[in-house]
Amino acid sequence: MTLDHNAVRADQPVTAGDDWWQTGVVYQIYPRSFADSTGDGVGDLPGIMAHLDHLGRDGLGVDAIWLSPIYPSPGRDLGYDVSDHGAVDPIFGSMADFEALVGAAHRQGIRVILDLVMNHTSDRHPWFRASRADPAGPYGDWYLWRDPAGRDRRGRPRPPNNWLSFFGGSGWTWDEGRRQFYFHTFLAEQPDLNWRNPAVPGAQLGMVRGWLDRGVDGFRLDVFNTFFKHADFVANPGAGLRRQAWDRQRHVYDQNQPELVEFLARFRTEVDGRPGRMTVGELFGGGAETAASFAADRHLIFDFVLLERPWSAAAFGTAIERVERAFGPVRWPTVVLSNHDRPRHASRLAREIGQEHRDAVAKAAAVILLTLRGTPFLYYGEELGLGDIAVRRAEAIDPPARRAGLFFPWWNRDGCRSPMPWTGTPNAGFTAPGARTWLPLAPDAATRNVASQAADRESVLATYRRLLATRRSLRPLRAGTFRRVGADHRDVLAWIREAAGEEVLVVVNFAPRPVAVTLGVEVGSGTWLRADGTHLEPGPPIGPDRRVALRPLEAVISTRRG
Ligand code: GLC
Repeated sequence: MTLDHNAVRADQPVTAGDDWWQTGVVYQIYPRSFADSTGDGVGDLPGIMAHLDHLGRDGLGVDAIWLSPIYPSPGRDLGYDVSDHGAVDPIFGSMADFEALVGAAHRQGIRVILDLVMNHTSDRHPWFRASRADPAGPYGDWYLWRDPAGRDRRGRPRPPNNWLSFFGGSGWTWDEGRRQFYFHTFLAEQPDLNWRNPAVPGAQLGMVRGWLDRGVDGFRLDVFNTFFKHADFVANPGAGLRRQAWDRQRHVYDQNQPELVEFLARFRTEVDGRPGRMTVGELFGGGAETAASFAADRHLIFDFVLLERPWSAAAFGTAIERVERAFGPVRWPTVVLSNHDRPRHASRLAREIGQEHRDAVAKAAAVILLTLRGTPFLYYGEELGLGDIAVRRAEAIDPPARRAGLFFPWWNRDGCRSPMPWTGTPNAGFTAPGARTWLPLAPDAATRNVASQAADRESVLATYRRLLATRRSLRPLRAGTFRRVGADHRDVLAWIREAAGEEVLVVVNFAPRPVAVTLGVEVGSGTWLRADGTHLEPGPPIGPDRRVALRPLEAVISTRRG
């Protein structure tokens, strides 16, 4: 089903705008892993506050930070199981710490985006406790309770339908007290709310207002397209043989229901009531086309098309074309290469050509991330070329990884959540030297950290800082249109961003060897001059014959001068 609630008028191209939701860069912080101020080995809000200089104009110069959930939580899904949406988890600090962080961030020109987990709550949330205890009470119908579909041969209650949990097994868990099943898209400790009960969206919007009142600049909506399920709990049709049970059915009835459109409109009216706010929805399943159908002014949608590609010009070229086609010239995409759910892109993409190229790939990927059309989202640590850590199965913390097995293949998300290395000292300046960090530091933290890279002009960090400054100085990169440019080499991609007649050309060599390529650009009306790129020393300029020589994994940003 294709839903379209797009509020953007075709005659008002968003590419003309200069609003931060579009032109800015967002930096994702996984609060447990950014910086610890107390010495308990877990990151916290004062820790983030102490490192704002890394993010502000004297450092990377990002426009906003998005904090993964900071609310009280039993931590079964590390904060994505919320037990109180309106408060701060004491492991991260207090509400006063949060307000201080917002104030300090704003003084540095950094906006603050919170992660809203509204599809489900923790099973310890007072709403669920009340719902479980009293079917006839005020919260009785706040979750998805259903009677069993009869009994199996051994007399056990059968789940109401075939809906699954993304974290393995049936999505239905039997509750002895109510003698009913409840539904959970994720863990049994994360029961899904009943969005068809008007009290549920009402309560969520009240919570949203509370955070807006505290000065929050926007929200990331966790798995927003699963809020509504089919009213009659119709079974999903099969999708054929796939590795993951989840993928063996088409998620027609447990996602993307038409009622979602109305709620999103209400939500956006609420947020738009405070000018300058933005939101971004995490699309759960579905590609660029579904993502584009939900995108609107001040409302971005993550699609993970680019994030799921291997490192090759062909794969990236196809993904970029697909996103451009799906979003068209009017809607505004996001650009994401890493987040807290997927292997970090420095190690993931280097897998194709060898880990010895990790830094070079990280720099070339940074050029792509910061020059495609769309709002870039950086994931903490990627500015260092940080790789995944290996966590032994017996030590896994990520809940689905602990349940993984032959019938439920799963990657361990601990890998991409290791503590941020700040310095070359013991515990990398993340926490007190003697403390035990909640996850191991990366094995190369002593040499791959903010302090060491800040002192090295050729580091991944120095490259990110330079590229972000270049992006700020070239409007076409922030707000321009996009068009692919021909390149007669299979390892090279090229594109032009254009705004108000100013053009910026980007050329990327995906190969770990030198290439020479002829570009399909016009050179008659001016010369292409190098503005920035992966390498400090400029390579040869683009010749009048439109030929350019690129070094291994080199990416070059050029502007045209008449
Ligand atoms: C989203 C989050 C993920 C979490 C899940 C359940 O996909 O990004 O980390 O486990 O939702 O809330």
